[in-house]
Amino acid sequence: MSNTKPVLSICLTCRDGREEKYNSRGGERFAKKIVNSFKRQDDVIIRGVNCMSCCKRSCAISLSADKRFTYVFGDIDPKKPLYISSLKKLVSSYTKAKDGFLRRRDRPRNYQSNIIGRFPPLDYKSDIIEYFKDK
Ligand code: FES
Repeated sequence: MSNTKPVLSICLTCRDGREEKYNSRGGERFAKKIVNSFKRQDDVIIRGVNCMSCCKRSCAISLSADKRFTYVFGDIDPKKPLYISSLKKLVSSYTKAKDGFLRRRDRPRNYQSNIIGRFPPLDYKSDIIEYFKDK
């Protein structure tokens, strides 16, 4: 298992339909809440990204680390506190899991159905992956 910290990427430019009311993008507001919530960034690196190309599923985040699975989540409502509070549990489970592999039931409920993608690390060998040889 790699010892590198997980990286939590948050799309700063995602919209949540409340832009006029708050004069800021939903992703930006969500990112601020996350940064305030984690306080110390010892256990995770938090970074903002200007568009993660999941715009139709905004707000979007991803969780990744060297030699570990990468997860992308969308349809996040930055106004719902559960998305913040359960994010800590998600990061904690990811950090503890072998290779960062999380089954659906290993993730907090609101990070189960709104998953967009799960991508294995490069050169990963597992029965969920089939390598095809060149002919
Ligand atoms: S604006 Fe957030 S994914 Fe494109």
